[in-house]
Amino acid sequence: MDSVSNASYASDHYAFLQHLHERLRPEVYLETGVEHGSTLQLAQAQAIGIDPQPQLTVALRENMCIYEQTSDDFFASHEVFGLTGHRPIDLAFIDGLHLFEAALNDFINIERYSHAGTVVCIHDVLPSTVKMAARDPQPDGWTGDVFGLVLALREHRPDLFSATIDVPDTGMLVLSNLDPANTTLRDRYPQILAQHMAIDYARIHEHRNAVFDLVPYSEAIVDFLVESMEVSRARARVRSACDFLNGEPRVRLGDSRLASVR
Ligand SMILES: C[S@@+](CC[C@H](N)C(=O)[O-])C[C@H]1O[C@@H](n2cnc3c(N)ncnc32)[C@H](O)[C@@H]1O
Repeated sequence: MDSVSNASYASDHYAFLQHLHERLRPEVYLETGVEHGSTLQLAQAQAIGIDPQPQLTVALRENMCIYEQTSDDFFASHEVFGLTGHRPIDLAFIDGLHLFEAALNDFINIERYSHAGTVVCIHDVLPSTVKMAARDPQPDGWTGDVFGLVLALREHRPDLFSATIDVPDTGMLVLSNLDPANTTLRDRYPQILAQHMAIDYARIHEHRNAVFDLVPYSEAIVDFLVESMEVSRARARVRSACDFLNGEPRVRLGDSRLASVR
């Protein structure tokens, strides 16, 4: 894969994701909202794409699979570990239906198949106009109310690492320190929808940099994400090795190398 220059890492969401793929080298990548496939094809290992109406313009590699259904239907009908050989998702990109509840559902579903070092990127959290943030699709660019995720996750999941990065054109929410056992979002689901689907973006727009705690792209953020993933993988290897030594060999999440050795 060609490297992009340092200055262009955050020139758009494609360059940003390309850089993340180069640095994180995810073993399992999942994307909701594939469209032409340009961001899906950044994945070098297993890639799972979900889109009810994909319009692929790229060739699919052998280790890529597209599920032609909504992400809600996909997660209701597939056990992701069954598709990945029990490996968790390392990197996910949420870019499907531009509505708060759809992006929230995607995050909740992805987290069930995560590890602590998993990185989830949510696109379109920074509408550049009030019109773009409407819940009805707009002809001149539409982010919908996905921006609500920044506020909802900060309030209800302060344990997550969360950075709203000023990636043109419409921002990127980057999350890590996931916990597959955490049920807070599911438990508070009705409350979260009532609270956050009611937010009027017109009241936020002028102050959005402060409200979203917007940060510019920095290599330090990516360094942190890489380190978190490496720590999480190392912990999984230690757990797996302990199980092995204790005579309890089993496939451990995040440990495909040991699993495949057995
Ligand atoms: C903005 S495009 C994705 C672009 C792509 N990720 C990229 O960066 O090149 C949004 C896609 O989401 C898909 N989509 C719409 N509703 C969806 C849903 N409920 N679940 C998954 N994908 C959905 C649309 O068909 C469309 O292809």
